[in-house]
Amino acid sequence: MKYLITGVAGFIGSNLLETLLKQNQTVVGLDNFSTGHQKNLVEVQSLVTAEQWQRFRFIKGDIRDLAACKQACDGVDVVLHQAALGSVPRSIEDPITANANNIDGFLNMLVAARDAKVKRFVYAASSSTYGDHPDLPKEEDKIGRPLSPYAVTKVVNELYADVFAKTYGMECIGLRYFNVFGRRQDPDGAYAAVIPKWTAALIKGEPVYINGDGETSRDFCYIDNAVQANLLAATTNNPDAVNQVYNVAVGDRTTLNELYGEIQQQLLSRYPHLEDARPTYRDFRPGDVRHSLADISKAANFLGYAPTHRLREGLTEAVDWYSQNA
Ligand SMILES: NC(=O)c1ccc[n+]([C@@H]2O[C@H](COP(=O)([O-])OP(=O)(O)OC[C@H]3O[C@@H](n4cnc5c(N)ncnc54)[C@H](O)[C@@H]3O)[C@@H](O)[C@H]2O)c1
Repeated sequence: MKYLITGVAGFIGSNLLETLLKQNQTVVGLDNFSTGHQKNLVEVQSLVTAEQWQRFRFIKGDIRDLAACKQACDGVDVVLHQAALGSVPRSIEDPITANANNIDGFLNMLVAARDAKVKRFVYAASSSTYGDHPDLPKEEDKIGRPLSPYAVTKVVNELYADVFAKTYGMECIGLRYFNVFGRRQDPDGAYAAVIPKWTAALIKGEPVYINGDGETSRDFCYIDNAVQANLLAATTNNPDAVNQVYNVAVGDRTTLNELYGEIQQQLLSRYPHLEDARPTYRDFRPGDVRHSLADISKAANFLGYAPTHRLREGLTEAVDWYSQNA
């Protein structure tokens, strides 16, 4: 089987690459290094054999360029489409660029995959699609109105995938990730995600800021769970499982205050001076949903998804990685 991973130099993409190469699969990767890094590819190379690495071909290119998408899709069986500009605040700062990458780029990839007769198109959707819907836990068919330009782009992705399935007979599966974290997630920059940002800040002795009162909650999902969901979506033979979207999470709710305590606790054995570290509270961030918690039964029932890591297990591995790499 030949896979194409878009966004392969990013956090989730590089982890998909590592797993697929370790399984001796053939992989094409596409990335423009806008938020991804060469060093992620170098790390994957160091974790696989020379023979496995030879099964990987990297294309530096942009999904906003249809020709690059077509080149990347050539001869591919399964697309794992991860390339997008993440972050709610980034999209509020610059909705035009978010739209171009996340909607135009997505449409290019669908067209290229259709024309290359790709067998399955698995794509990164997002829990932000639930928007202002008040119900908890989140069930796939109950979505509200988007709260940010980023969320709009992810809703539109699902609409396009659905239409391409109906109109052109493609097999599409959307994975609504809920706050994925783990090795190689970028801790730097204004738009870094909370776990890498706080972990690296604590290690470096920099201040940690909590937006709001810290009672905002999330369903944090370790990277190994997200990789598992992608592989199940890529390979399922269950006809009812295709042309669906799935929550990819754990089904646990953790507040930011609890998260801070967990990270601090896990760092204490290496950095005992963090015993007295305290976060600084500041304003809520616009566009953020207050609470997020997934019902993962649909992915469990249709795909056989069974998360292997809850927050604490995932944090142990992630904190270990940041201690060596931050
Ligand atoms: N990490 C999460 O918690 C989370 C949650 C929900 C959804 N997602 C989605 O998962 C996907 C992967 O996210 P991630 O956390 O790995 O982020 P990331 O920023 O680490 O990876 C994204 C990768 O896509 C590449 N990219 C961006 N625009 C591109 C373009 N126009 N052409 C080619 N490459 C491009 C970047 O360079 C980067 O390597 C994204 O679609 C994101 O929206 C992530």
